Amino acid sequence: MPSQQKALVIEQKFAPQVVKNIDIPKPAAGEVLIRIEATALNPVDWKIHELGLLVEVYPATLGFDASGVVVELGEGVTEYAVGDKVIVEGWFDSEKRIFGTFQQYLAAPLTTVGKMPSNLTFEEAAAVPSGIATAGLPLYNQSEDADSARLTPFWEEGGLGKYAGKPIFVAGGSASVGQYAIQFARLSGFSPIITSASLHNADLLKSLGATHVVDRNLAPEALVQKVRELAGGHIDLVFDAVAIPDSTLAASYQITAPGGQLVVVVPFPIPGEDKSSGRRVIAAHGLFQAPSNFVAGKALLSKIPELFESGQFKPNRIEVLPGGLAGITAGLNRLRDGKISAVKLVVKPQDTED
Ligand SMILES: NC(=O)c1ccc[n+]([C@@H]2O[C@H](COP(=O)([O-])OP(=O)(O)OC[C@H]3O[C@@H](n4cnc5c(N)ncnc54)[C@H](OP(=O)(O)O)[C@@H]3O)[C@@H](O)[C@H]2O)c1
Repeated sequence: MPSQQKALVIEQKFAPQVVKNIDIPKPAAGEVLIRIEATALNPVDWKIHELGLLVEVYPATLGFDASGVVVELGEGVTEYAVGDKVIVEGWFDSEKRIFGTFQQYLAAPLTTVGKMPSNLTFEEAAAVPSGIATAGLPLYNQSEDADSARLTPFWEEGGLGKYAGKPIFVAGGSASVGQYAIQFARLSGFSPIITSASLHNADLLKSLGATHVVDRNLAPEALVQKVRELAGGHIDLVFDAVAIPDSTLAASYQITAPGGQLVVVVPFPIPGEDKSSGRRVIAAHGLFQAPSNFVAGKALLSKIPELFESGQFKPNRIEVLPGGLAGITAGLNRLRDGKISAVKLVVKPQDTED
């Protein structure tokens, strides 16, 4: 084992991200040390960097999604062995210090780690953890303190197909989170599954389970009307997988029937919200390590290999960026500027050059 690794480091809030040599951490008790083979980029990475959100301790290394190989076990770890292929989500400590995946080695607590599906490449698997958590946990989490629609999980008795005949609308079905939300809706039996996206992604989204793809460029009133027509009745559950204040949120709220539930991936104020309508707005929380996500997160992580290996779930399409960690900043700029469509950008930290 080397003692040093390359990491993409932000020295202080708003400073540029630079590749540096830093020490490889030792796994604490209950943690594993993972050699990261692939890491995926998320919109939250540029938001933290450019808006100064969430992270309070610098220098910091961002990154929320990765896959790799366990290379060392912390004290007391029996669930994993050296050599296991895993997926892992970036995590925070109580001081808002981030332990991110934009580096070559990450020590992570077991709450954030899962076995990697054997039929996925490292690059495909890197795009799984945050997207699947952000879609699945606000739908199925049964914990009392969780913000969740509390659907019966499809993995529990009676959960598979339980919501047959009930319509669902997923705003932003092409987003990484949206693609997983569509697939969860399919397993839970919802029908029709209506989604909004650019129409060039319609075939992809139908292959995941969408029954109708509505052009996301429709004016909001036209979109609301079209979705209501297709649903043929009340839509009690809406999942806004992009939650854009001046674009999708108002329409998603209007599409949600009075008394229904709207899951939003970012907790922005809802334009035109009428609290007396009885609509419930649920803020997705996609960190496996959040205490309210512990139980459901563990159950979901344990289901991930089977979901993909059985073919029930398909991974996001990926695009591998050149240059290892040095390719991340340009990739995050593309995410910020909306210059990706139904694809997850991935880099291979071990390819980072001196
Ligand atoms: N709360 C949490 O814990 C949590 C965790 C993860 C992510 N998030 C948030 O969830 C959001 C989605 O993340 P992601 O990684 O899934 O995003 P992403 O994959 O980068 O989203 C890109 C997609 O958004 C779609 N899109 C953009 N504007 C749209 C609109 N007006 N209507 C419909 N679709 C639109 C595009 O679809 P087309 O290409 O079809 O046009 C594009 O393919 C981000 O805001 C992220 O910060 C929250």
